[in-house]
Amino acid sequence: MALSRLFITIGTPIISAVIYVLSIGYRHRLRISRLRKQGVAMPAGWSWWFGHLRVLDEKLSRLPPDANVYMAMEDLVSDHAATEVFLMDYWPVFQPVLMIFGPELAVQASIRHDLPKPHDQQESFRPVVGGPSLITMNNEQWRMWRSLLSPGFSASHMLSLVPTIVDAIDVFCERLRKHVGGGVFSLDDMATRLAMDVITRTTLDTDLDNQRSEHKLSHALNTILNWHSFWDPRILLNPLRIPVQWYYGRVTALFIRQELQKRFEEMKTDRATIGGTLGRARKAKSVIALALEEYITMKHETNKEAFDSMELDKDFAQIAANQIRLFIFAGNDSTATTIVYTYHMLFQHPSVLAKVREEHDAIFGRGPDAGDRLRDNPVLINLCRYTLAVVKETLRLYPPASSIREGLTGVSLTDREGNVIPTEHLNATIMHRYVHVNKRIWPRPMEFLPERWLVEPGHELHPPSGGYRPFELGPRNCIGQTLVLNELRIALIMTVREFSIRPAYDEWDAMKLANESLYGKLLRQLGLRKSHCKTVLGERAYQTSRAGAHAADGYPCRVSLLKAEAHCC
Ligand code: HEM
Ligand SMILES: *[C@@H]1O[C@H](CO)[C@@H](O)[C@H](O)[C@H]1NC(C)=O
Ligand SMILES: *[C@@H]1O[C@H](CO)[C@@H](O)[C@H](O)[C@H]1NC(C)=O
Ligand SMILES: *[C@@H]1O[C@H](CO)[C@@H](O)[C@H](O)[C@H]1NC(C)=O
Repeated sequence: MALSRLFITIGTPIISAVIYVLSIGYRHRLRISRLRKQGVAMPAGWSWWFGHLRVLDEKLSRLPPDANVYMAMEDLVSDHAATEVFLMDYWPVFQPVLMIFGPELAVQASIRHDLPKPHDQQESFRPVVGGPSLITMNNEQWRMWRSLLSPGFSASHMLSLVPTIVDAIDVFCERLRKHVGGGVFSLDDMATRLAMDVITRTTLDTDLDNQRSEHKLSHALNTILNWHSFWDPRILLNPLRIPVQWYYGRVTALFIRQELQKRFEEMKTDRATIGGTLGRARKAKSVIALALEEYITMKHETNKEAFDSMELDKDFAQIAANQIRLFIFAGNDSTATTIVYTYHMLFQHPSVLAKVREEHDAIFGRGPDAGDRLRDNPVLINLCRYTLAVVKETLRLYPPASSIREGLTGVSLTDREGNVIPTEHLNATIMHRYVHVNKRIWPRPMEFLPERWLVEPGHELHPPSGGYRPFELGPRNCIGQTLVLNELRIALIMTVREFSIRPAYDEWDAMKLANESLYGKLLRQLGLRKSHCKTVLGERAYQTSRAGAHAADGYPCRVSLLKAEAHCC
């Protein structure tokens, strides 16, 4: 009696819960099944129990365990060449996503319908950036902040920040010199530190000296990120996560607020000494200082008395601090990865490297003072057209990011076969990598050909419209793209004349094998531990799943000085 009552009290809620979950699952799969019947393309192997999870798992199992998930889509992309989109049903792990790799569909999602950022993205970004920020804002709030921040990122303002970037790359060169004749080191690590250095100097006018030793701001941000995951339950459910992120979130917020306060005081002094309207500074202003001026102009009459007694606006300071954190978050990995792959492409294509050096020699001469020349005359970077072409071509083959948008009720996309895809309750992702190597629109898609960025429209190599979008196209494109393209050009100008960087994966792999424990060796010999494949499409420096799709193993490499004789003759 007692036992059966116990069974009923415990059993009933469990059974109801199971039924509830099953019915949600059933409704979910029913919707996907209907979409399929309506003609929405999706990979074969979909099942009522697993959706496409097993399909994905099977593709992933053929790749190195840390390879980027997009790399697993290779076959699926060729299977769907006719539609240039397919639906992946990852429920219950993720929401189902439309995977787009055709330019017309990408334009529909990002420009024609300008689909919004996922509605709950702001919450998942909160621990990282502290609250609302440009990347997750929508509508009016986004419009206001985008227009406050745009002047600072404009091409003309970015040119005034060239000397600041040169300073950061001087430190990068100094660190490279220390590795000359030394052992194998991670280029990725150095590039990450450089990227963060450039972002804080240009957007906040703060020199963290983070390339030489870890600054407390970057320590705090890195710790927050180590405790962050968009999905991993081992991290999300850890009871320490919230207090750790809270503590370092405070450290970050306080530091950035102090810096903003300093910029505000400087503005007041500038204005007092120069008088009149918001003053011209002697030194190029940071992105955030410009935004602050715009904000004050927008909010107040610019009469002197009011300005002198003004406090730093709390609302502005709060969100501006989030924006700075976002710049670091959005720019750190992506820029670093691009730096690494650019050197990798130059290593793999010696004739391209030779042309890059030729261009620099023609513009800057052969002396060691290219950095000073740039400081005095920033527009010189715009003469380095071939160098820019190299960077663009690298970003075509190794785009570090992609786009995600949320579908809307009543908005449909149309694929190349004319099938109408309702986007309600779906996310759409634009897979930049596969748009960039789409055979239908790109001639010789897998070849590294900087020339395609230098030919006139009408030439067979001329890039197809809508087919190149490493920074995304449309209103929500990357606000930092000019900064990135300048930084890459300056880095190349200042380094390729002095250094020669070569990957050292062979040494790295040998060292790893030698380091393996006896136990590990035994397992391997018994066939109980399998050796994973170490390349993707024949490339050892494959893109990994780390944010920004960093090259495998942090790109172990060696650097040597370019021999003067070899260079000059
Ligand atoms: C190679 C480096 C970079 C790449 C490839 C890249 C790529 C992108 C892409 C694809 C988007 C659109 C995301 C989407 O549609 O979901 C984006 C947005 C954004 N990026 Fe970048 N980014 C890079 C560097 C940077 C840097 C250095 C900064 C800032 C200093 C930055 C700031 C932003 C911001 C603020 C947005 C959001 C813009 C908005 O929604 O209005 N990015 N980036
Ligand atoms: C910057 O990128 C590096 C390399 O992926 C990562 O370890 C670090 O946590 C990132 N930091 C921030 C603040 O984004
Ligand atoms: C879209 O993706 C985000 C995660 O990036 C998720 O939180 C959201 O619920 C998804 N929306 C839909 C409609 O699937
Ligand atoms: C191998 O071990 C040495 C000494 O413990 C260490 O310094 C090195 O980083 C290790 N290398 C790899 C590839 O794990």
